[in-house]
Amino acid sequence: MNKRALITGITGQDGAYLAQLLLSKGYEVYGFASRRVNQTFDNLDYLGITNQVQIIFGDITDQASIIHAIRTSRPHEVYNLAAMSFVGLSWQEPIHTAQVDGLGPLYLLEAIRTFAPTAKMYQASTSEMYGNNWEDDLTQNETTAFRPRSPYGSAKVFAHHSTVNYRESFDLFSCCGILFNHESPIRGQEFVTRKVTQAVAKISKGLQDKLELGNLDARRDWGFAGDYVEAMWMMLQQDEPDDYVIATGETWSIKDLLDRAFFAVGIDDWSEYVVQNPLYMRPAEVPHLKGDPTKAKTKLGWEPKTSFGELIDMMVVADVKRL
Ligand code: GDD
Repeated sequence: MNKRALITGITGQDGAYLAQLLLSKGYEVYGFASRRVNQTFDNLDYLGITNQVQIIFGDITDQASIIHAIRTSRPHEVYNLAAMSFVGLSWQEPIHTAQVDGLGPLYLLEAIRTFAPTAKMYQASTSEMYGNNWEDDLTQNETTAFRPRSPYGSAKVFAHHSTVNYRESFDLFSCCGILFNHESPIRGQEFVTRKVTQAVAKISKGLQDKLELGNLDARRDWGFAGDYVEAMWMMLQQDEPDDYVIATGETWSIKDLLDRAFFAVGIDDWSEYVVQNPLYMRPAEVPHLKGDPTKAKTKLGWEPKTSFGELIDMMVVADVKRL
């Protein structure tokens, strides 16, 4: 019998890569997708798998629709990837962010507890939960304290603790993957890596003059989304549920990102193309993220396969090809 998986947020970057991985392993894949957001199936199309997944429409803030999805798909595994995932927007939509990213997972946990208590559940936690604690811990692991700096980070901390709490209280097999930034050619265009690689592709073809950005000094630990979804799956194949940091263990600044992306199209000095615009500065910044994936390596046998340079090159090449 094939295993059945339900993926919320299947139309996003991670949902699409995870669906592709699970299909390759013989899973029956159900996707929970909202019609309320401006939804497209572009990412599933890009990977050529749209017709291989079964879509159930609903919304993570509508518990009746979650229950319907669980009863329809009868999942062995549930991956909660539904989120308002753009940190910058969470200051403009803090309540919506809290409902989707904080309460949404709780609705899902409660639905699993009631209607599918043996299903294993993955919750998409995030390095954004660490916020400002780099002053204490330059490298963040599973024991590092959370000090979120955004409505997004706060909502994710609530969801993280709810997931741990349901594991401890009701014996649910629920795991949190604390994923550091992960990118790909289908990364949303509002995130900094894709904004840069798309602009670089256009600049290289003479289709754009300037690239407007916010803080160029922020540092992130960037990996490839295709590698990271493997870790999600691995967590649910363990004998015991647990939480894991998924990261590369390296950190790069936005300036490093610009160096690499412009270099990929043969431009050594990007200073004449890049302008800083206060519009893209955040009310509170997370200045430094660098994950320690030792636990994932030791317990799951997971390791990132794609380097930062390979990732950015892959994204630039894909954006040039799209033009
Ligand atoms: N988006 C964006 N646009 N970010 C910019 C810009 C810009 O024009 N200029 C500078 N940045 C800086 C941001 O201030 C931030 O420090 C960094 O680039 C990365 O921003 P994003 O790519 O938007 O990602 P993020 O780190 O805020 O959040 C992503 O990673 C999290 C994991 O840590 C998202 O994928 C989250 O959903 C995820 O949880």
